Amino acid sequence: MREQDLRKMKIGVLLGGRSAEREVSLKSGAAVYNSLRSLKYNVVAIDAGEDLCGILKKQKIDIAFIALHGGHGENGAVQGMLEIMGIPYTGSGILSSALAMDKEATKKVFLYHKIPMPAFKIVHASEIMTRRKTAKTGTAGGEELKTGFPLPWVIKPATEGSSVGVEIVKDRSGVNGALKRAFSYGEKVIVEKYIRGKEVQIGILNDNVLGGVEVKPSLEFYSYEAKYTAGMTEYILPPRLREKTYDGAKQTALAAHQALGCSGATRVDLIIDVKENPFVLEVNTIPGMTETSLLPKIAESAGIGFGELLTKILRGVC
Ligand SMILES: Nc1ncnc2c1ncn2[C@@H]1O[C@H](COP(=O)(O)OP(=O)(O)O)[C@@H](O)[C@H]1O
Ligand SMILES: [Mg+2]
Repeated sequence: MREQDLRKMKIGVLLGGRSAEREVSLKSGAAVYNSLRSLKYNVVAIDAGEDLCGILKKQKIDIAFIALHGGHGENGAVQGMLEIMGIPYTGSGILSSALAMDKEATKKVFLYHKIPMPAFKIVHASEIMTRRKTAKTGTAGGEELKTGFPLPWVIKPATEGSSVGVEIVKDRSGVNGALKRAFSYGEKVIVEKYIRGKEVQIGILNDNVLGGVEVKPSLEFYSYEAKYTAGMTEYILPPRLREKTYDGAKQTALAAHQALGCSGATRVDLIIDVKENPFVLEVNTIPGMTETSLLPKIAESAGIGFGELLTKILRGVC
């Protein structure tokens, strides 16, 4: 989209929403709104809480900047509604959003495209019920979850974000408790091999790699607390990797973004193991968008300021 066309448009920043990540989204949305306003765009902030459809009809926006995290705002539902209403929007489309939000679906697509990822097993709540019943009757199966790879494991809900419900389990005795807690968020749980190494996140914008950041939490892993408590995590730009390893991580991240068919800005989470091999954890289709969030930090280190990043995202909308 050309700059002069964008200047004529009424931009609606969708923020808030009803997901568990509402608070984070309000912050992202406010930062996006303030920056676009200071750049003199015609912009309104829209809380995607109740009756989003009704508000959108009233506001008559020409384009939506989606700053929603989690739930309907990130899983393709809001994207579908905007398509039906004929409103172009930033970021990934319906299918890519849905695939990226569901870690089981992501993994199945990654298998097809040979994207490296940790060994995993998907566990459905119904299987656990069956296993319990079999264990009670004393027949084969037992209580033990079999994955085919050794502990430690990372146990996580399939459709959450922000590390909600993610636990590292070091021995068998912790498995059932972590599974139970992960199932409190939904029907599907991912059990993954724990990869020891450096955590790196790569930012992608309109099919180009912007760069990456190394995330070094002071806690055991990049948990909810480590993500949202100031000073709990060190962010190192660029990541402390050999050039060849960093290039490999960038290529892998771009391949993951493209495998899911993503558009606009994404942030790909990876672990680089001690042998310097990259493993993709997930693709975030609506990365945090405050000025100090990771994708804006990565963009800044690539010479792209916050305002410019936002206009590039908007101009990337077809
Ligand atoms: N297989 C793994 N090996 C090592 N650490 C992991 C693994 N999976 C997740 N983690 C840790 O948990 C965090 C959250 O996991 P992630 O899969 O990115 O879920 P979320 O969608 O909640 O961000 C990661 O940033 C990382 O610190
Ligand atoms: Mg993550």
